[in-house]
Amino acid sequence: MSVAYDRLLEAAIQHLHELKQSGARFVPVHIETLARLTRPAPTSPTRPPIHRPARAQQPPTPPRSPIASREPAAARRALAAPVEELNASSADARAPSIPALGAEEKLAAFAAVRQRALACVKCANLAAARKNVVFGVGDINAQLMFVGEAPGADEDAQGEPFVGRAGQLLTRIIQTMGLSRESVYIANILKCRPDTPGWSAGNRKPTTEEMQTCIPFLHEQIDLIRPRVLVALGGTAVEGLLGKTAGITRLRGHWQSYRGIPLMPTYHPSFLLRNQALSEKRRVWEDMLQVMERLEMPISDKQRSFFAR
Ligand code: URA
Ligand code: URA
Repeated sequence: MSVAYDRLLEAAIQHLHELKQSGARFVPVHIETLARLTRPAPTSPTRPPIHRPARAQQPPTPPRSPIASREPAAARRALAAPVEELNASSADARAPSIPALGAEEKLAAFAAVRQRALACVKCANLAAARKNVVFGVGDINAQLMFVGEAPGADEDAQGEPFVGRAGQLLTRIIQTMGLSRESVYIANILKCRPDTPGWSAGNRKPTTEEMQTCIPFLHEQIDLIRPRVLVALGGTAVEGLLGKTAGITRLRGHWQSYRGIPLMPTYHPSFLLRNQALSEKRRVWEDMLQVMERLEMPISDKQRSFFAR
């Protein structure tokens, strides 16, 4: 290897030693980097697909509740997927076949991402205006994950997503599905409240640049949580996750795919607050029924008939 490479390696090792001496036990490493590091070095230029061995010595990930836990065969298939999929870059490609982390590793990796997000100042205007970074809330082993747009004033003040009026409606929707806020995971495309200098009230849509700057945090959250189903709340969430700007009224109710994870676009709860028509509520509810079916959740007759005329 080159001298430059040796120097870089030396510096990296030195840095890690210093961190260890200062008491650090974990370092943030991107999940895909971790997967690449656990892969054996190539022995020939034309490498056949490597099948990832299941890890020994890891405590099993705790079962997910209250939805029926992941089928073991599916989990095995995911572990055995060829590594070529790791290199897929399109949002619609299959999810990377990163080995499932043990419970402790997953917690540590999640805490590391959160720490980086809380310290982020990449959008100087947002960092200056924010009270809190709103990282996400819920169960990091959730099977169902909701993604919104960006924190509003209430979320900024409390450091938790979806706690204002729209959030209370989202919470009711989740409860009507027979779930709780604590059993799902909730996050936003943007972790900081879009600043509104000179405005007396209201919220601003995140800019494309802000979304592009912040989205890696959400990608890491999804990679770690590995939900079975994603729900994108409103057009901005769909745009952030899928790059689609086709319009939420056309996309809602139709399954999409975020790196192999089924994604249901639906209306943002704040749209339902502005538009009180029963027909719109029923549309969102029909989307949630599809999500429940996908997760093989029990659905009662009462649940089926909500908002139906
Ligand atoms: N709207 C969002 O998109 N996210 C929140 O967290 C709150 C309101
Ligand atoms: N129109 C919007 O702009 N957003 C929604 O969530 C629904 C309809």
